[in-house]
Amino acid sequence: MIEVTVTDKQPLTASICRLQLAAADGSALPAWQAGAHIDVHLPNGIIRQYSLCGALNSNSCYEIAILNEPDGRGGSKYIHNDLQQGDRLTISAPKNLFPLVPGTNNTLLIAAGIGITPILAMAEQLHADEQPFELHFCARDQQHAAYYERIAQSGYASHCQFHFSLGNSQNRLNPHQLLADYNKDTQLYICGPNPFIQDVISAAEQHGWPTANIHREFFAAEAIDHSQDQSFEVVINSTGQVLEVGKDVSILNVLEDNGMFIPVACEEGVCGTCITGLLEGEADHKDVFLSADEKQKMDQITPCCSRAKSKRLVLDL
Ligand code: FES
Repeated sequence: MIEVTVTDKQPLTASICRLQLAAADGSALPAWQAGAHIDVHLPNGIIRQYSLCGALNSNSCYEIAILNEPDGRGGSKYIHNDLQQGDRLTISAPKNLFPLVPGTNNTLLIAAGIGITPILAMAEQLHADEQPFELHFCARDQQHAAYYERIAQSGYASHCQFHFSLGNSQNRLNPHQLLADYNKDTQLYICGPNPFIQDVISAAEQHGWPTANIHREFFAAEAIDHSQDQSFEVVINSTGQVLEVGKDVSILNVLEDNGMFIPVACEEGVCGTCITGLLEGEADHKDVFLSADEKQKMDQITPCCSRAKSKRLVLDL
């Protein structure tokens, strides 16, 4: 964990603010790569993940941008309403669950709304590395497009296309048109609201994009339906211990109640931090982190939210 000070807080749009964070003791911050995020531990007990989107080679400061979500769990509301410049926060070291694939022939970056944050870092990395790429950024209008000026005034602006949904409907992103034209060797990276990501993925799949070339990062989980949840057992493979998971508790809660603590962050199936090996049994995957292929393999599970379709799951713990 790293203690940081909020060295700057500025609005980027009416609903998005930007924070700059420096180590509280003045030391250098760990290096990071495009696509990385940090867990931010807020004083109200909430942990949220935010993509790093500042200068790639800076070890003196991290930058994150936060969308105010009044109906969220309170993390963004706290940052927007209460957090002040000079306040202290605890953050994790950067983690990268959305890295650029090295040695790619071409890259297509698609972002919507606050999803621009990891995609912006990717565009800047690819530009610095002189790698070919194209960026498509969807937002309501210019005023709602965080980092619009930074992109429009950058040396890579000619690789970027803005798609504003207000006004000229010709300008809206048509994923089918865009993805039909692309060479299948291109790597595709998508970030934005979940329905947007699902639409783009579905268009890519319809046009024959291989799953391995499609990379996405979700920001918030859809409300998970637990109405059909049933109890089941989990077996701890290393000890043989059998634990009952009641219909109203998560696997994660049961593990913790029995003194087993696995790393967690979002606790809603978004970040992948809690992924645990699954040795036997059929998972009822409720996360949005694992891809459809990964879910089908039935060899890993997110214990924070996923459950079992079989009577018993054997966990690689
Ligand atoms: S803690 Fe984020 S997916 Fe489980």
